[in-house]
Amino acid sequence: MSPATFRALNLVLLGPPGSGKGTQAKILAERYGIPHISTGDILREEVRNGTPLGKRAKEIMERGDLVPDKLVAGIILNRLDRDDCARGFILDGYPRTVEQAAILDDILGELGRRLERVILITVPDEVIVERMAGRRSCPECGRVYHMVSAPPKNDTLCDECGVALVQRPDDREEVVLERLRVYHEKTQPLEELYRSRGILLEVDGNQPVDTVTGVIVEALATTLQP
Ligand code: AP5
Repeated sequence: MSPATFRALNLVLLGPPGSGKGTQAKILAERYGIPHISTGDILREEVRNGTPLGKRAKEIMERGDLVPDKLVAGIILNRLDRDDCARGFILDGYPRTVEQAAILDDILGELGRRLERVILITVPDEVIVERMAGRRSCPECGRVYHMVSAPPKNDTLCDECGVALVQRPDDREEVVLERLRVYHEKTQPLEELYRSRGILLEVDGNQPVDTVTGVIVEALATTLQP
């Protein structure tokens, strides 16, 4: 399916922490020429820049909890209203609560748009704990690596920027376990919500990255005919 034949590709990537949402979102955004919008990345930038929002979010994120819905809503409203979202977008990490799903419906309604598909990437909890222990990212460009399955070419340096890779503070095992608990309690109900709307595509994320991408692209092509 060529990008030119698409109707606006308004997509959400849903799934537990470490399921590969960011990895797949980057690949899909490039493939379809639409922006990848990660609330986690935006919040981490706010933390790095020491903004008022970042100061409120820092401690919440480091203990693995969710930043309050109202704070995150402002980010999404501003971002989806930008011109580069006209042909679609990939939301990664939003919505994460039933309340956020309702806010997203309102925002899209105001913009005269709707969600086309929600892609759920499933991975067992025990695989996630292992994956997070090996995740490293570049503090400059944000590229994500895995020290076993997707290592950098040069020791622990980013292939693109040459700077030392870092581990996210919320990737410590005890925080990962808390993030998983929060996912099951607050985010998992969204699976049923979107399934009942008939827009949920479920993908097994416990396969090689390319295989997961292929399944998603194929599922979008067969279910979203222009
Ligand atoms: P956020 O940054 O969104 O974290 P997350 O949802 O927990 O997801 P991750 O980024 O940890 O993982 P991912 O699924 O993107 O996996 P990745 O591709 O990196 O949120 C962080 C925090 O911000 C939250 O806890 C919360 O505090 C706050 N926040 C964010 N959004 C919010 C919201 N809407 N409301 C309130 N608070 C919010 O992959 C993980 C690793 O696995 C990598 O090393 C990768 O190389 C590897 N990998 C990927 N795919 C595969 C594969 N198929 N096989 C093997 N390895 C793989």
